[in-house]
Amino acid sequence: MPNELDSRMKMAMAAESASAARNRLYAAKAKKDGQGQLAKLMTAMATGEQISARRALIYLRGKIGQSDRHLEFLRQQKQAAAAREYPAAREAAASAGDRSAGAAFEQFEKVSYNHASVLEDPDIAGAEHEFYVCQVCGFIAVDVVPEKCPICGAVTGRFKQAAL
Ligand SMILES: [Fe+2]
Repeated sequence: MPNELDSRMKMAMAAESASAARNRLYAAKAKKDGQGQLAKLMTAMATGEQISARRALIYLRGKIGQSDRHLEFLRQQKQAAAAREYPAAREAAASAGDRSAGAAFEQFEKVSYNHASVLEDPDIAGAEHEFYVCQVCGFIAVDVVPEKCPICGAVTGRFKQAAL
């Protein structure tokens, strides 16, 4: 059972990571709009938040539970996202008439199924495998890079091998 401080540290890590991602987005928009100073400020904020998130990660590294339990938790999360959350999000996008959001949610759904499928192999983290991630959509290929990404159609060159 995780103690309260660990839970708070996990929350801090998630919040700082999410805020950093948001601020990178705002920095990109500001840069595109010719607001260079604002873009620099947002980049500095994002960098600072990433440092905080990394510090929280370092704190938690020695305190997290067993990896095999995490793998099953993660598989269930991916399955739930693919089966429930993203289809609901797709419907909301369709109702709003937002094709772009609908297409993104559809891709997230397919990628979540792919990730859940990778995690179904009980030996996936135990045996020697190589993982190749599509840099366009996030699809993970195990051991062999496909000629084309089965989800987004990206070519082989858009896959990047996961490295430590
Ligand atoms: Fe892809």
